[in-house]
Amino acid sequence: MDTQTTYNYKVVRQFAVMTVVWGIVGMLVGVIIAAQLVWPQLNFDTPWFTYSRLRPLHTNAVIFAFGGSALFATSYYVVQRTCQTRLFGGKLAGFTFWGWTLVILLAAITLPLGMTSGKEYAELEWPIDILIAVVWISYAIVFFGTIVKRKTPHIYVANWFYGAFIITIAILHIINSAAIPVSLFKSYSIYSGTIDAMVQWWYGHNAVGFFLTAGFLGIMYYFIPKQAGRPVFSYRLSVVHFWSLISIYMWAGPHHLHYTALPDWAQSVGVAFSLLLLAPSWGGMINGIMTLSGAWHKLRTDPILKFLIVSLSFYGMSTFEGPMMSIKTVNALSHYTDWTIGHVHSGALGWVAMVSIGAIYALIPQLFGRKEMYSIKLIDTHFWVATIGVVLYIVSMWIAGVMQGLMWRAVNADGTLTYSFVESLERMYPYYAVRLLGGLLFFSGMLFMAYNVWKTIKGSEPVDAKIPQTA
Ligand code: HEM
Ligand code: HEM
Repeated sequence: MDTQTTYNYKVVRQFAVMTVVWGIVGMLVGVIIAAQLVWPQLNFDTPWFTYSRLRPLHTNAVIFAFGGSALFATSYYVVQRTCQTRLFGGKLAGFTFWGWTLVILLAAITLPLGMTSGKEYAELEWPIDILIAVVWISYAIVFFGTIVKRKTPHIYVANWFYGAFIITIAILHIINSAAIPVSLFKSYSIYSGTIDAMVQWWYGHNAVGFFLTAGFLGIMYYFIPKQAGRPVFSYRLSVVHFWSLISIYMWAGPHHLHYTALPDWAQSVGVAFSLLLLAPSWGGMINGIMTLSGAWHKLRTDPILKFLIVSLSFYGMSTFEGPMMSIKTVNALSHYTDWTIGHVHSGALGWVAMVSIGAIYALIPQLFGRKEMYSIKLIDTHFWVATIGVVLYIVSMWIAGVMQGLMWRAVNADGTLTYSFVESLERMYPYYAVRLLGGLLFFSGMLFMAYNVWKTIKGSEPVDAKIPQTA
């Protein structure tokens, strides 16, 4: 194939297919740990299968393997299409795929073995951290190199979001993972005490803001207009959205450390910026949803569009809930409870997973020379099981969370606690069972997706579209 006149779809295909595979793996581990919370004996008394080891395996698999693959696939696709040029860097793009796959495999081995730096969402030990940094810098070279050699005069807004995501994750990862190794599998953070906590949650919150949000907003700004066949509702709003979002997110991290040794003023800064975040978040959501103006009827027949638009409603919901939870008096109730878990999954399943699923359904036929997916009806079924699954998951966690918070703070007239911790735990069982059911539904949707993707790809000719030639 002529590599000068065609786009590089090979790496997009690799990441797109792996998005589905890692989605299944990561969510399966999610279902297993949800089941362990109902039946603790499911750890089979082995250290490798304990909740404490599988939980980080779940978070790493869904965020970095599933979400990461969706971001790599879509960003490589979008940057080429909107810059009308082939990916920069030749084999470097292929290296990012194999390098990222190696990172995921190493995570899948080391986490169950109990090798961890103990930092949430940054658990991997130092040799893997170095590999991540190398892959990520290569990713930045491919992405920005493509932007530099673009044939279009301007840089489409989706690329701004992808670009911010790539730069910020590099900075966050390198600074937060700085550590002193004591052996091949053990290191200690160079930060300590409150500083360590602050750096960790500066990282943690911006991982939410840039990994789980900015990159996926890049997906939204390309795939919603494409799928709806309409231009973005307001390009001006998208630019305001971009600058306000990236400048405000950076300062909101302290809301993860309320009522800790972190100075009070820093906690207040965290609250103020979290409340401010509501504006760009909702501005972006409105921009995405309003892109459908004049094309609302398409929602009736196009399940891919349903995935994309409903993901935005969940985005709106979680970015309303987040600022509320950052208020110290609300956080006093919600922190440590399942309310946080409900919030996480309304963002993670409702927003991140659904927008990725929609984008991958839109991409697969393009990449494999098919007019459309094998079965549109099956996409619709996937949409409904996924939506019901998310709703069951988050509603059960909201109820469980508020109940926990209220039970833990209830006191008798003489000042003693009304309930013991175990009593609150006992009350959780029905809600944990409902969450498991919701998770199973969402997971089964992923299996429908795998079947549909398999049937679409089988016997197809991978196609690398031609780059339009400009005079
Ligand atoms: C305006 C936007 C948002 C704000 C202000 C916000 C705020 C918050 C707050 C206050 C907490 C609880 C912290 C605690 O008590 O420990 C939290 C937890 C969390 N949020 Fe958000 N949130 C936002 C959007 C999102 C979105 C869109 C996602 C996912 C896609 C998300 C993912 C998470 C995660 C993963 C945690 C749990 C962190 C942990 O303790 O492990 N958030 N968020
Ligand atoms: C079938 C789907 C899923 C199921 C059944 C599931 C289940 C779970 C369970 C049981 C936990 C532990 C909760 C706890 O410790 O109390 C958890 C944590 C978490 N999950 Fe999922 N999950 C699913 C999908 C996802 C996806 C797609 C993402 C991200 C894109 C995600 C991100 C997270 C995060 C960030 C946490 C940690 C939250 C925190 O520390 O506050 N999950 N999940």
